[in-house]
Amino acid sequence: MDLSELKNLISEFKADAKNLSSAADFEQLRQQYVGKRGKIAQLFEAFAKLGAEEKKEFGKKINELKNEIELEIVDLQEKFLNKKAESPLDTFAKTLPGKKIEAGHLHIITQAISEIVKIFKPLGFARVRHPELDWEWFAFDALNIPASHPARDEWETFFVDAPPDKKYGRLVITPHTSSGQVHEMLKNELPIRMLGISRCGRRQEDIRHLQTFFQFEGLAVDKGISISHLKGTLDYFAKNFFGPNREIRLRPHNFRFTEPSFEIDINCDLCGGKGCRFCKSGWVELGGAGMVHPNVLKAGGIDPAVYTGFAFGWGVERTYMMKSGTQIDDIRYLFGNDLRFLEQF
Ligand code: FA5
Repeated sequence: MDLSELKNLISEFKADAKNLSSAADFEQLRQQYVGKRGKIAQLFEAFAKLGAEEKKEFGKKINELKNEIELEIVDLQEKFLNKKAESPLDTFAKTLPGKKIEAGHLHIITQAISEIVKIFKPLGFARVRHPELDWEWFAFDALNIPASHPARDEWETFFVDAPPDKKYGRLVITPHTSSGQVHEMLKNELPIRMLGISRCGRRQEDIRHLQTFFQFEGLAVDKGISISHLKGTLDYFAKNFFGPNREIRLRPHNFRFTEPSFEIDINCDLCGGKGCRFCKSGWVELGGAGMVHPNVLKAGGIDPAVYTGFAFGWGVERTYMMKSGTQIDDIRYLFGNDLRFLEQF
């Protein structure tokens, strides 16, 4: 068999195939063409001896011919041996253990949010959602921070390039969930016990800050709400979320929308309160809190002579990082989308 016969081989094969009358004839034809010493094998042997240029010319042709003849043989096999072509399922090893499909899990911040919601539920705090793109009036003015006040700078706000509203001002990516307080008051449904959780945005990014992060905001407004309700609620949450052996401290602060105001710290879980790269001082700031300022109640249409309230707003990521044993020492890992990190939890 040499390569000059290549051209006529398919017509030769078809002619031979027409003369088949039995399974034995078919088997003989099969051996003749695609058997170990068959014509196709001989063509490949001749091909191997060719120079590079000729290989280019013949390689594709031989392969096409081989495929064509093999397809014809599959058809003939069905006809003469009454046997279907071998499918991958026929050779499938049914008893071999399969490959396990990775199940995955909810993101750790989603898990933390569910846990926070569960802890506050028995106290009557219902989860609510407020806009993550909002007017600056809700983020600042209604919270007793007028346009010219320097306290606005602390919120490192992203302003949206969109036409401002005459009454509510510019559109912002909410820099804190406190923007939801007056939205909730304006629903006109008293008393209030809300737990607002949403994304916030600030122009910050480092070991303790993200540009996009979550906060959870508690707001209680009722007759006779006092600072001891606030303290009791925060202690209750901390005990349930962090366990009984962790310490929380309140530091006096000045938020314009609460009076008095506090910042809340927890002893750092990474270093056991000794001071480390993450906390520096042994304490990690988790959030702010205080008694709702009368001007905020007024902005929400509530009479501060009748009602009082408390509010708190904590960062979800830092709260989760300080959970005993997580040992996450850079907030940016949380949304780095690295499975090697996420699979550890
Ligand atoms: C506030 O945002 C106030 N709205 C909290 C508040 C609510 C006070 C109600 C009084 C009453 P602050 O800017 O300190 O406060 O942020 C609160 C917490 O959000 C921080 O302690 C931190 O845990 C988290 N946080 C703030 N900025 C970032 C950021 N860029 N990345 C990650 N977490 C952040």
